[in-house]
Amino acid sequence: MTKLSREQAAERLQKLRPLINEYRYQYAVHDTSTMSEAAADSLKHELTELESQYPDLITPDSPSQRVAGAPLDKFQSVPHSQRMLSLNDAFDEAETGAWKERITKLVPEGTKLEYFMDIKMDGLACALIYEDGMLVRAVTRGDGFVGEDVTMNVRTIESVPLRLRVEKGFEHLTKGRTEVRGEIVMYKADFEKLNEERTEKGLPLFANPRNTAAGTIRQLDPKLVSERKLHFHAYDLLREDTDDVPTNEFAYQALRSLGFLANRDATVTDSVEGVIKFASTWETKRQELSFNTDGLVVKVNDRRVFRDLGVVGKAPRGAVAYKYPAEQSTTKVKDIFVSIGRTGAATPVAMLEPVVVAGSTVQMATLHNEGEIKRKDIRVGDTVIVHKAGDIIPEIVEALKTLRDGSEKEFIMPTHCPDCNTELKKLKADEAVWRCPNESCPSRVWKRVQHYASKGALDIEGLGEKNVIALIDSGLVKDTPDIYILKKEDLLTLDRFAEISATKLVNAIQDKKTPPLDRFLFGLGIRHVGTQTARDLAQAFHTLEALSEATIDELSEVEGVGEVVAESIVEWFSEPENKGILEKFKTFDVWPLEAAHASGPLVGKKFVVTGTLESMGRDQAGDKIKALGGTFQSSVGKDTDYLVVGANVGASKLKKAEKFGTKQINEQELLDILRG
Ligand code: IVH
Repeated sequence: MTKLSREQAAERLQKLRPLINEYRYQYAVHDTSTMSEAAADSLKHELTELESQYPDLITPDSPSQRVAGAPLDKFQSVPHSQRMLSLNDAFDEAETGAWKERITKLVPEGTKLEYFMDIKMDGLACALIYEDGMLVRAVTRGDGFVGEDVTMNVRTIESVPLRLRVEKGFEHLTKGRTEVRGEIVMYKADFEKLNEERTEKGLPLFANPRNTAAGTIRQLDPKLVSERKLHFHAYDLLREDTDDVPTNEFAYQALRSLGFLANRDATVTDSVEGVIKFASTWETKRQELSFNTDGLVVKVNDRRVFRDLGVVGKAPRGAVAYKYPAEQSTTKVKDIFVSIGRTGAATPVAMLEPVVVAGSTVQMATLHNEGEIKRKDIRVGDTVIVHKAGDIIPEIVEALKTLRDGSEKEFIMPTHCPDCNTELKKLKADEAVWRCPNESCPSRVWKRVQHYASKGALDIEGLGEKNVIALIDSGLVKDTPDIYILKKEDLLTLDRFAEISATKLVNAIQDKKTPPLDRFLFGLGIRHVGTQTARDLAQAFHTLEALSEATIDELSEVEGVGEVVAESIVEWFSEPENKGILEKFKTFDVWPLEAAHASGPLVGKKFVVTGTLESMGRDQAGDKIKALGGTFQSSVGKDTDYLVVGANVGASKLKKAEKFGTKQINEQELLDILRG
């Protein structure tokens, strides 16, 4: 590019900054894209080039100023303009009712109380201070009175605006001093990914997303912070003139206009019943949230009433944290054994004295790998804290070492597979996971068969864990293809089956001899090939034969397939045992259908299904779409043609469809399309 004069550069920068900023805002706050990441990177590159030529043109709100600066020696203490408070807890309807009674007595007679409810995010509180719309400081909660200046680190968080957006009706909030408070969170998926990467690198694992987010913000080197994905969700807006923000409901609207993420599920109710209803909805739905939560925050909606109610101790009278039942408990480790997974991974598992955590009995907890046990120093006989969140496999948080009496035994990782006695190996020397390399290991076989029959794969009804184990123990099934030669008479020799159940299972298996290629591929259980990758591969290669001959380079050309995945596929098809399995399938007349019929009426049409359909399951709908040549996607993208909207839909898919102008159709319209 030709060198620009100072004046030209200033003009260009003035145009580049809002464009890059809009990209960031749409991406970080609305989860949509105004351009590709590569294009945005290229604009950012141009911006930093210009700024390095003319450093005096750098402004504090320039997108370049998000980039991590030099490490600090220590954080400066900063007093809060208003104390950052905590909340008292309420655990059930009675306690919430009692809170309402208490405050009703304190407010002027006739006041109609409304409650603003939001999900309580499990992160760390942070206050952002804006002067005339520019971010000047970010301060941690600290002791509530004085926090630490973490501005350098917080600037790297993409969902924090460096300059407030100016929108009609809210302009006054961008003048003078505006303080925005909220929670810095690490999303569950990012946390898991981070720990996976650390496992691969043999580094110690992080305990949970909150500690990781808090630890990250307290890093003195902003570069480290910028590498970890953190998000800021706003929940409070403070102005000198309190009339600027009359209600909490208004605060959330204003926060969104100013360019912040404020939870869209937050809402108002006028009764305790309303609070309880909201709480129970989210108690189950919370698994779908991107962050962890342990309850709700309920605040009096009218901010004047809220203020007048005052503070007792550290907590405002006008708000309460509605907490779900504890997700942690303590128990004893009875034993530690090693479980061999489908791909051979040897995972140490703790057998626990049964204990109720978050409403269900827990008897086992994963210990991930040998390094994890060493790091946490968990021994047989230890009293431990167990944690369980939703459907997640229970985990041991820590061993309570002061309770030891000397009888505890350290765990020694076995050198051989507990099921087939084959020597355990590491795929790579620096890997944290030991594996059983024997493809015929009984544990691996039953998990393989079970995976093949599972819902996302072949979906064979009646072939669950217990039946699979019985079939393998009896010797009737030695590997997956053997299920296809099972006869009713064979099954009747087992206690588990009677005439009807045996006939049903044989029929269910025989029905699945020509599965769609993507399901079959997923069912094979190749490492790193999940449902979406299987779909992408089926679409790209059409037949299993073509895929089995593909090279790493050819595989890597498929979108979403990286080198690790490509290597794993090539390796799978080159293993003699796997070749044998495929041969066996063929001999038994089992072979996947060719994918994506180029002649189907839906060729080139891309569908996403959201919510529940009445006449069929989502996977079934996908199969029908694919059978007619269409593409079935798991999330709405720019190229999606139809979003099929069922019952109980999530807001995010609809939002994306609106953004991209995707046509939305209902179940009946889908059925019409499928009928042609
Ligand atoms: S409103 C008076 N809303 O919970 C403080 N707080 O125990 C009320 N928190 O330190 C603030 N999610 O950091 C509010 N949606 C939410 C929240 C939330 C998490 C944290 C906040 C505060 C703590 C109070």
